Amino acid sequence: MKNSLNALVFFAKFAVLGLAIAFVFSELAPNWTARIRGQTTGTGKIDTPAVPAPPVGPTKEHGRYLVSVGGCVDCHGANLSGGPITGAPPSSPPAANITPGGEISAWSEADFIKAMRTGVNPAGKQLDPFMPYRYIGKLSDAELKAIYLYLKTVPAAAMGAR
Ligand code: HEC
Repeated sequence: MKNSLNALVFFAKFAVLGLAIAFVFSELAPNWTARIRGQTTGTGKIDTPAVPAPPVGPTKEHGRYLVSVGGCVDCHGANLSGGPITGAPPSSPPAANITPGGEISAWSEADFIKAMRTGVNPAGKQLDPFMPYRYIGKLSDAELKAIYLYLKTVPAAAMGAR
C-alpha cells in the first residue's frame, strides 16, 4: 500500500512538471515564432519586420541586418534621419542623422569605426553616452565596416525628416 502511494506521488510530480513545461511552451512559443516572422504578437504589433539573416561578412547586406537587429531605428528613426527620440529622457540629445544627408556622409570608413570605438566623431565632438557607442564599438571591424557600407546606401534624408 505504502509503495503504491509512493509511486503515485512520484508519478504526480512528473505530471505536474510536464503540465508546467507544456504551459510555458504554449504561452511563449507562438510569440517567439511570430517575432521571428515579424508578425503581431499577443503583446502588440512589431513595427520592423525582421530582416532575414544574410551571410556574415563585411557587406552592405550584413550591415543592413546588423542595423535591423541592432535597434538603430529605435532612436535614429525608421529612415535613420535622426531627430528627437520618442520616450527618451528630456536630457538626452536628438539622434543624429546617419543617412548620407547627415555629417556622416563626409566620414571615411576609418572615421566611422573610430567614432564608434572612441565615442568621438571626426569633428572632435564627444558623443552623448545615450548613443550606445560603448556597445556598438565592441563589434568587430568587419561588422562596423558592414554597417558603414549599408549606411552609405540608404536614401539621403534631412535631419529629423522621419
Ligand atoms: C538609444 C538610442 C540610440 C541607439 C539605439 C543608436 N543611436 Fe546612434 N545616436 C544616438 C544619439 C542620441 C546620437 C547623437 C549623440 C550626440 O549628439 O552627442 C547618436 C549619434 C550617432 C552617430 C554619430 C553621428 C554624427 O554625425 O556625429 C552615429 C554614426 C550613430 N549614432 C550610429 C548608430 C548606429 C549605427 C546604431 C545602431 C547600431 C545606433 N547609432 C544606435 C542614439 C542612438
